[in-house]
Amino acid sequence: MKEITHSFTYQTYISAAELAIADRELLERAHETTYSSYAPYSNYHVGAAVRLANGMIFTGSNQENMAFPAGLCAERVAVFAAASAFPEVPFAAIAVTARAESFEVSDPVSPCGMCRQAIVEYELKFGNKIRVILGGNSGPVYIIQGMGTLLPLAFIEKGLKKSPKHKS
Ligand code: THU
Repeated sequence: MKEITHSFTYQTYISAAELAIADRELLERAHETTYSSYAPYSNYHVGAAVRLANGMIFTGSNQENMAFPAGLCAERVAVFAAASAFPEVPFAAIAVTARAESFEVSDPVSPCGMCRQAIVEYELKFGNKIRVILGGNSGPVYIIQGMGTLLPLAFIEKGLKKSPKHKS
């Protein structure tokens, strides 16, 4: 028997004002995008902004549905929009934030497990780590070097890529 420990390091900033310009801009884009959220059930408005390796930015907000599981998180809306527009361009960074109507979101918004899994797929596809910038409507900002860091033992099964047509 062997015991394995996973640990990770991340940076925490007192507020968005402390961030490098590119990170702050991406988080601002994510914040702006919270205003396009459709969240009549949770009243919790999430925004995500993805920066591609070519510098382009794609955004997404959470889209809810009266059949609750049919809705989609902001992160996947953003990432899927980017990947469908530019399937061959890696993601460099993603910023996530949220605001709520009845309370202050003062802790960084951390992506749900399904979004982590969805985004790790692109790290594997392109072989690069995606910088993760997590903020709230106020309060500290976390920066994590790589979505995979947030999902140890992600579901990865390379055997599923059987067809030579699906090399990427
Ligand atoms: N949500 C996101 O958009 N991203 C996350 O990482 C977690 C949760 C959305 C889903 C739902 O519309 C609302 O936030 C409340 O869970």
